[in-house]
Amino acid sequence: MTKELAGKVALVTGAARGVGAATVAWLHARGARVLATDIRSEVEQLADENGVAALVGDVSEEDVAVRSAAAALERFGGLDILVANAGRSVNKPVTETTAADWDEVMSVNARGAFLHAREAFRVMRDNGGGAIVTVGSFASTVGLVEAAAYSASKGALAQLTKVLALEGGPHGIRANVVAPGVIETDLLDTFRADSRAYLRSFGDAHPLGRVAQPEEIAEVIGFLASPRSAFVTGAVVAADGGYTAA
Ligand SMILES: NC(=O)c1ccc[n+]([C@@H]2O[C@H](COP(=O)([O-])OP(=O)(O)OC[C@H]3O[C@@H](n4cnc5c(N)ncnc54)[C@H](O)[C@@H]3O)[C@@H](O)[C@H]2O)c1
Repeated sequence: MTKELAGKVALVTGAARGVGAATVAWLHARGARVLATDIRSEVEQLADENGVAALVGDVSEEDVAVRSAAAALERFGGLDILVANAGRSVNKPVTETTAADWDEVMSVNARGAFLHAREAFRVMRDNGGGAIVTVGSFASTVGLVEAAAYSASKGALAQLTKVLALEGGPHGIRANVVAPGVIETDLLDTFRADSRAYLRSFGDAHPLGRVAQPEEIAEVIGFLASPRSAFVTGAVVAADGGYTAA
């Protein structure tokens, strides 16, 4: 594989598993050095001697965003790519959604992405540019039943990303949202032990007749993080098996 990202430094949040872990593997395989962060200590298992380091922390904490950007600089000497991927969902009818549910989802999906994007932007602005990829959802553009907080947070993420693109353009900073359809991951494991099987059961809702694997989403993230997408910014890039085409 060509090391087309040799010399680049990436920060990936929510990297312990799922889409985040697949993205770390994608970037690292192409030569990027990667700081992988997650609230789960399992993220430390990704660290190696060859250019992957790990940091454990909650993305919604300002201090974690500041420390993550500083760690990328200190450990690898730069920060060229941010993948703001950490996310969580609460799936309940709106009438059963508590204020705590709302705050929890918004704090990870919207506030966490904002804080990390701001810190990365500061470094990229001072170092000649970079690429920010946020991981939204089809819920960035359409509403999902029984996912009020999640849909609102992913809509907020899309709007945040557009502003990053507008303010980042003059500094050589691109910012794009990947908007996946359903992916077979453990995202819902705080509600149900069968998260993967449950998510897989939504295949028929997608014109392609199946849900995505994390590696398929990592491909799109990687493209938007790399110079191959040099003229793409401010875009909400659907990778949803056609879900939002209807
Ligand atoms: N699975 C899907 O169907 C689906 C669909 C569209 C979008 N997405 C988005 O893809 C992204 C990745 O999700 P996934 O499906 O790989 O699920 P996942 O649960 O496997 O991965 C999410 C990661 O984020 C981490 N995380 C959660 N809260 C955190 C916090 N406060 N601080 C730091 N890390 C935290 C988790 O520990 C986990 O490792 C999320 O933003 C999710 O909303 C998922």
